[in-house]
Amino acid sequence: MNQADVLRERRRRVEAAWSASGADRPVLIPASLPIPIDGTDQFHEFHAHPEFQYLTGVAEPGAALAWEPDAGWTLFAPSLTIEDLVWMSAPPSAEELAATTGVRRSQDRSELAGWLESQRGRDLALLGSRDIEARAPEYGIDAWSTLEAVVDEDATDRLGQALAELRRAKDALELDRMTRAVDAAVAGHLAAQGVARHGLSERALQIEMEAEFFRQGGARTAYGSIVGSGPNSAILHGTPGERVMRDGELVLIDAGAEIEGYASDVTRTFPVSAEFTGIQRDIYNVVLASQEEALAAAGPGVEYKSLHLQASTTIAQGLVDVGILNGSTEDLVAADAHALFFPHGLGHMLGLSTHDCAGYLEGRVPEDRFGLAYLRADLPLAPGYVVTIEPGIYFVPALLTDSERRERYAEMVNWEMVDRLLDFGGIRIEDDVLITDDGCEVMSAALPKSASEIEAIRRDALGASSG
Ligand code: GLY
Repeated sequence: MNQADVLRERRRRVEAAWSASGADRPVLIPASLPIPIDGTDQFHEFHAHPEFQYLTGVAEPGAALAWEPDAGWTLFAPSLTIEDLVWMSAPPSAEELAATTGVRRSQDRSELAGWLESQRGRDLALLGSRDIEARAPEYGIDAWSTLEAVVDEDATDRLGQALAELRRAKDALELDRMTRAVDAAVAGHLAAQGVARHGLSERALQIEMEAEFFRQGGARTAYGSIVGSGPNSAILHGTPGERVMRDGELVLIDAGAEIEGYASDVTRTFPVSAEFTGIQRDIYNVVLASQEEALAAAGPGVEYKSLHLQASTTIAQGLVDVGILNGSTEDLVAADAHALFFPHGLGHMLGLSTHDCAGYLEGRVPEDRFGLAYLRADLPLAPGYVVTIEPGIYFVPALLTDSERRERYAEMVNWEMVDRLLDFGGIRIEDDVLITDDGCEVMSAALPKSASEIEAIRRDALGASSG
């Protein structure tokens, strides 16, 4: 696969979509600049704007891409001063960027002011980072206001929407990057499962896992790794700390590596000791059943929301079976009783961001309903889409001790049992899933997830014998 050819084809599709949506004005797509950390002389870790990165395949701070209906694409490559080069490594030259990105007209960024000047009097669409409006000098332009550049917000929205829709289905270059990111995540999770033990801190586990991400080619974590032990496993976006895990508890790890801008996002939950306890195993198997059903059903044309609702039903039924909920699954899901224990959506689009763009079909919006409010995708699936499928069951004390909810769900919930499980924590199982022509492929399938497979890994890790 020639990277520049794939990127040219990607931009050709974008041009076609923009032309079809009536694009008749220049488009500027700045990559973004490093963001200063308030009150210091440091910067946040740099993230290129995903629209720029999608269109160029690279993430150069301070670069910009431009498009004109007649003239096509121009890339403006940042250059650094001698003073900058004392502190920072040199960015690729315009010629090097032309070779990597396939944008033949690749120029030094000092040409950007002239390009903008030549557009004077025409409205622009401004995609990518809008930091250029406030930080023009850092892009080598005197001031945005002196350019008399008028941003056409309608065109910006329309072209941004067309671009987001194209970004849903991943091409071969994206899938190559995502596959490597998922493989690194799988290796990191296996490393963590191999070292976790009574007395180890969440932080120590994070270190072992993330070291493996980096050894496998990860450039950084795709998001702040979530490592929660015991009750902390119920904190959906909990950050690892010095808490020490204990035999009898669960550990939940939700973490992924990022490679060339692309994220992986994988979750497993396992026991600190070699085996799940009875109730842990029962609840684990409910989550696993709901996940496997969703994987079996996922494929082109399937509505992501219907997968979420199916998983909600399975979780409700499982919670009835273990004695936590009472009633028919239909009534429980209609009342959102399951959401007391499954308070998030089934998953999201994955790509250049962990929660990648365009999860909602145009015209659809998140529903203002407890059981659906955090659903991050509502669209029919199609080949090439990469989504996560990540049901879970949690005992979140803040939700489960709330008097208003306890009253509302007085009949549907066995509150005595819930009170005994308030420090249970949570279980989530998450895979990264590529939709194919006739179903789906689980990209993270190499990471075992049945209770017995996980126990075998844990027994090995702890040097424990079975039974
Ligand atoms: N895995 C982190 C998230 O989806 O928010």
